[in-house]
Amino acid sequence: MGALTGHDFTRLVRAQLGADLRGLPAAVRSRLSAGGAAADCVNIADLRNLARRRLPLGVFEFVDGGAGDEVTQRRNQADMYELVLMPRVLAGAGRADLSTTVLGQRVSVPLIGSPTGGTGLVHPDGEVALARAVNGGGSIYVLSTAATRTMEDVAGASRGPKWFQLYLGADREVGRVLLKRARELGFSALVLTVDTPAVGARERDQRNRFAERRLTGRTVVEGIRHPRWTANFLRSPRVLSAGVLESAVSEGARGRGSLISDQFDPVLSWKDIAWVQDHWDGPILLKGVLRPEDADHARRLGVAGVIVSNHGGRQFDHAPSALRALPAIVDAVGSDVEVFLDGGIRRGVDIAKALALGARACLAGRSLVYGLGAGGETGASRAMEVLTQELRLALTLMGASGVRDLDRGWLAAASLSRELTWSAPPAPLT
Ligand SMILES: Cc1cc2nc3c(=O)[nH]c(=O)nc-3n(C[C@H](O)[C@H](O)[C@H](O)COP(=O)(O)O)c2cc1C
Repeated sequence: MGALTGHDFTRLVRAQLGADLRGLPAAVRSRLSAGGAAADCVNIADLRNLARRRLPLGVFEFVDGGAGDEVTQRRNQADMYELVLMPRVLAGAGRADLSTTVLGQRVSVPLIGSPTGGTGLVHPDGEVALARAVNGGGSIYVLSTAATRTMEDVAGASRGPKWFQLYLGADREVGRVLLKRARELGFSALVLTVDTPAVGARERDQRNRFAERRLTGRTVVEGIRHPRWTANFLRSPRVLSAGVLESAVSEGARGRGSLISDQFDPVLSWKDIAWVQDHWDGPILLKGVLRPEDADHARRLGVAGVIVSNHGGRQFDHAPSALRALPAIVDAVGSDVEVFLDGGIRRGVDIAKALALGARACLAGRSLVYGLGAGGETGASRAMEVLTQELRLALTLMGASGVRDLDRGWLAAASLSRELTWSAPPAPLT
């Protein structure tokens, strides 16, 4: 090959510049489009940053915040960092297989979309976009009782598997109608959330007067600073509605806030599980369990799954992280009940850690909703994709052949003694 002359070099630079300039309008359009910048995000932290820029403060903080001092919310992630995985070398494991089964249903990746209410505020496509993104990624989406879109919208949004999450309020007629419709529309399992005898104290929401939804000077300024969100909001006033509940409650005059708060019932008890079993003939999972004896109680009642969760730190502050509570629950229920981890999933490797501790699969809430805020369905799909790719890379680097290969043998002994005996004081350092 001959040496590059000054003339060749100038020609090459000119050709490259020309190509770049011709592509510029499309590149700018893509960067500025709702999904373009989200599709370029490298990880969940990038999606969160983009969502923070794109959403009015009150909406972003509704998603991002937790209860009280947010101690539990921070623990969910801090404990993920603490747990240490030990890679194997020369394992010859090949391409990692991420597929598994969840309650008999095959999924391409053990990452389920947590139920998140009110997501129409984040993006008008709300739960429809989330369901498409999660089903598109080969997994199960859980539709919340507090969703903004209707059950019919979400059931028809994509062909993939969906579960329904129930908040069971004192008005059993509402619960009965919701369960009947969910069954008719093909939701295949029921997630009963049991960590909400009342709504947690979300202080960021209180400060932002989020629940009041009043038009204040600050709301107007935030609206002007986020024109794309405001235009969407004005085009789709239903983002403020309680789509799932409104279709089950006859007196539609009640506002979204009271409709949803009516579903938090402080007298709900183990006795009510029988009522749920009478009205739902498919598998039932309890979401929000942190104590092994509660998980065992659920097992004795014939519940199919337990979701170890502190509601992403949005309910009782000072509870343990979901990860820390997980192993004792896995040990308590044995193989009779499938155990899931929900809370703090921000990296693919977090899923590997939970699976190594015995979880069947994980659920992710904020990671997907950050994606939704960053770029609607494209952003939520990007969140699924990022977590899936990270999980595959983590397993490959660990020398694991697939998610079903994960067990406690992958955890470093030091992290086991320090992290998993949460009811005992930490061992003294020697
Ligand atoms: C915006 C938002 C809305 C939520 N709404 C519900 C809900 O309606 N029902 C429910 O059981 N959990 C709800 N959760 C909790 C999630 O299902 C899940 O437990 C939590 O997000 C897990 O923590 P992570 O965000 O760290 O993944 C919500 C969480 C967020 C962030």
